[in-house]
Amino acid sequence: MVWNPDQYLRFGDERSQPFHDLLHRVPVRSAGLVVDLGCGPGQLTATLAERFAGSTVIGVDSSPDMIAAAAPHEGPSVRFELADIRSWQPPAPVDVVVSNATLQWIDGHLDLLGHWLSFVPSGGWFAFQVPGNFSSPSHLGIAEQVASPRWRPHFDPEALERPRSAEPQAYLERLTEVGAEAQVWETTYYHVLQGPDPVLEWIRATALRPVLALLAGLGADEQAAFETELAERLRRAYPPGPHGTVFPFRRIFAVARRR
Ligand SMILES: C[S@@+](CC[C@H](N)C(=O)[O-])C[C@H]1O[C@@H](n2cnc3c(N)ncnc32)[C@H](O)[C@@H]1O
Repeated sequence: MVWNPDQYLRFGDERSQPFHDLLHRVPVRSAGLVVDLGCGPGQLTATLAERFAGSTVIGVDSSPDMIAAAAPHEGPSVRFELADIRSWQPPAPVDVVVSNATLQWIDGHLDLLGHWLSFVPSGGWFAFQVPGNFSSPSHLGIAEQVASPRWRPHFDPEALERPRSAEPQAYLERLTEVGAEAQVWETTYYHVLQGPDPVLEWIRATALRPVLALLAGLGADEQAAFETELAERLRRAYPPGPHGTVFPFRRIFAVARRR
């Protein structure tokens, strides 16, 4: 799966706010080992070394492009590893496991929560955030268009990677079952985005990525036609206003402490 770090880093302020809000709720200031699962381009991972005094931070991501983009953020207490977080194992017990905007890409991630919680000893922390907006017009717009008569022949529904998250209560119940005391909550951010077709530009780095990857085989004209049609849909759903385009974005947070 191909990720484009430069495109992802557009809207960086809006994308990083939930990371900071998540970390704000982890009630420890120092740590030994901290791990960032699905660290992406690494600029947020690097802040963990300061957030947790005395810590060593390991960022893990399965995208070579993301790990290459993260390399400049390496330092004496921050390093990055190319690996799949479904099977990656930490080199030692972890004090804080963080995962921001990543678990939605992992099918069946609810069933892996206990695995990642097992990285921390009793009293350790596992904090994550996932989008909770999969029934928003941005996602439904992609799904409708892919299923429309014009485009359906080009998409094998089985081949299309679809991000998904569970509802907050499911995270709470699962974390409790696997041995954590958890706080789970949700927040809807009302981002005000600038520039033409900003919602299309936002999703181009995330939800639209798997669709664009499949369209790449059809050539530039078909890809442009798909994007033009989707841009119109998104403009109807998120009309530009006098101060920008309001893009509501629901997110789900969990901070769990292993019992
Ligand atoms: C939306 S980005 C989030 C990046 C970063 N955590 C942030 O908040 O900016 C999702 C990241 O998850 C990574 N990812 C997805 N599935 C993965 C897996 N199975 N193992 C490791 N990384 C994965 C992708 O490569 C991508 O960098």
